[in-house]
Amino acid sequence: MRIAVLADIHGNLRALEAVEANLRRQSPDLIVNLGDHLSGPLEAAEVADLLVDRAWVHIRGNHDRQLVDRPYEVMGASDRAAHLQLDARHFRWLASLPPTAEPVPGVLLCHGTPSNDSQYLLEEVRYPDGTVQLAAAQLAGDRLGDSHARLVLCGHSHIPRVASLPGGVTVVNPGAVGLPAYNDSFPVPHVMEAGSPHARYAVMDFEARGCRVELIAVEYDWNGVAEVAARAGRPDWARALATGFALR
Ligand SMILES: [Fe+2]
Repeated sequence: MRIAVLADIHGNLRALEAVEANLRRQSPDLIVNLGDHLSGPLEAAEVADLLVDRAWVHIRGNHDRQLVDRPYEVMGASDRAAHLQLDARHFRWLASLPPTAEPVPGVLLCHGTPSNDSQYLLEEVRYPDGTVQLAAAQLAGDRLGDSHARLVLCGHSHIPRVASLPGGVTVVNPGAVGLPAYNDSFPVPHVMEAGSPHARYAVMDFEARGCRVELIAVEYDWNGVAEVAARAGRPDWARALATGFALR
């Protein structure tokens, strides 16, 4: 079975359209989308309209949850920017999304970890300096809890990775379709950086004998989208979109 995996679109319509065009050559049997669909200063409503129409398996990310369960007054700037663009239909769609899914036996979808949409599965943020490193295999395996999946697909960190964990579990983070770097303050201030401005996604052939994974980086008009972010008063997004590195 050929599975295409998208995550962390963050309202970036041009990146999503470029990924969709690239996807047509892949002929996947299943397309899954791991959340953080809309949050940000870009084109949240247009992305929502596109996603609602797609017969993909969508789950929700932490920002999708925050868009429906937090009062506007306590939202972060990126969630607020998306919130202002969305209508009742979009909010109904966000509220309908499950936190995890198992669309195929043995394949588990989650945004962060299976039990926490705000926790990294494959990364560790060190205290107190905020250095980000690959989590130890045992720690990442523990974060899977009682899952028996052979293949776990996650997002949240925006860092494309394939990891082989104890017990023969493969974890794939496709990276972000729409935002290749960011600063965050939780649990301590840190940056995540893919290191290039490409729109990322992944394709895998999931078979009884194993799993062949391809991490894909797609070119698109990232400078044009960075200008949209700059005009919206978000130099951090503009820098991340244009370079794949965070504004420090
Ligand atoms: Fe995200």
